[in-house]
Amino acid sequence: MIRVIFIFTLLLSSFFTQISYAENTEDIIKYRKNIMKAIGNHISIIAANLKGKVSISEDILPHSQSILLTLSSINITKTFPENSGPNHSSTTKSLENIWSEKDLFSIAMKESVEKAKDLVLSAESDDKQNIAKSLGALGKTCGSCHNKFRKKKN
Ligand code: HEC
Repeated sequence: MIRVIFIFTLLLSSFFTQISYAENTEDIIKYRKNIMKAIGNHISIIAANLKGKVSISEDILPHSQSILLTLSSINITKTFPENSGPNHSSTTKSLENIWSEKDLFSIAMKESVEKAKDLVLSAESDDKQNIAKSLGALGKTCGSCHNKFRKKKN
């Protein structure tokens, strides 16, 4: 009898671990999308000022700094854990090569961080043309990571 209870408990606990595991996957996917969206929003805020849609140019520096801070603090291992790719969920646009080409993914992140640093420097100099150039260069690094590691829109 004790053995039966033991096995039953074991089965039950593995059942619950699996459930919480599945929730975890969706939570981390949503989480990293939120980080990406935040970065995207900072870019839109800077772009709105550069295009003259609004004239609150004192916002350019803090939002450039926010991009740098956000990008550079991404913990790739925790934010893109092994089991959160397209084989484990249909809600992610992350591609499997994030894990099979880890080094390239982390290089792509570093390149983006470098361009975000340049953007902060330009924003500090308050030269709109420089800022636009740096923003364009940063945008290219977002795009090249997305091209390689993110599923295209259907
Ligand atoms: C090192 C790779 C990498 C870099 C650099 C990168 N991204 Fe991403 N981004 C991704 C991946 C992977 C996804 C897909 C996430 C998912 O669905 O799991 C993504 C998704 C997004 C999304 C969509 C989020 C959603 O709601 O689905 C936005 C917006 C975005 N990124 C903006 C940016 C911007 C802006 C930059 C540059 C400043 C940037 N990203 C830099 C890898 C990167």
